[in-house]
Amino acid sequence: MKVCILSGNPKKDGLCQSVIDAAKQGVTEGGAEVDEIRLGDFKLIRCQVCGDGWGPCRDENYCKFGKDGFDEIVARIESSDAIIFASPVYWGETSETFKSFIDRLRRCEFNGQKVLRDKQVLMIASAGGTGNGLLTSLEQMDRFCRHTGMVIFDYIGVNRWNSDYKKIAVKAAAYAMASGRKTEK
Ligand SMILES: Cc1cc2nc3c(=O)[nH]c(=O)nc-3n(C[C@H](O)[C@H](O)[C@H](O)COP(=O)(O)O)c2cc1C
Repeated sequence: MKVCILSGNPKKDGLCQSVIDAAKQGVTEGGAEVDEIRLGDFKLIRCQVCGDGWGPCRDENYCKFGKDGFDEIVARIESSDAIIFASPVYWGETSETFKSFIDRLRRCEFNGQKVLRDKQVLMIASAGGTGNGLLTSLEQMDRFCRHTGMVIFDYIGVNRWNSDYKKIAVKAAAYAMASGRKTEK
């Protein structure tokens, strides 16, 4: 079993990364391999909205600009059995890196591709400022998961004053997912 962590966090330390580290620990202790995909390590472009609104993403399930790292990331997701989404909250949404990546990926999944369909997903948002925007960020991830047919395992919102007990929950959720707690759709 392999679990990939799709991370929209640009930082290598801080609240969001400490939450991701808790998730990694849970996955490993649950007996699965982790692949942390740090979207910020790539020079990904945003969706170019080809043609009249669709490019080959619609009928051929690929992005014609995929050589920017998008194709590599999709392949890593495809080879994973379950996914953890992790993003800091920026402006009450997921980070721009995360948001623009899922915009592109959703298009490629729209018409029959099965990279995400039926894969379990644990969604994590961390709000390090006011703490506002957790629900809207998780809702943004949730909408993507519903469009792409993923199987929702859980949602966890972390802020500066709940992080002690939420990190425990993140680790436990990652452990439960990695060790096969939910086996049916
Ligand atoms: C552009 C930007 C917008 C942000 N917007 C919010 C926000 O709407 N709500 C919030 O609680 N924190 C906000 N923050 C703080 C981040 O959520 C915080 O940096 C993130 O949770 C990660 O914490 P960390 O930097 O310690 O890893 C924002 C940060 C940035 C850089």
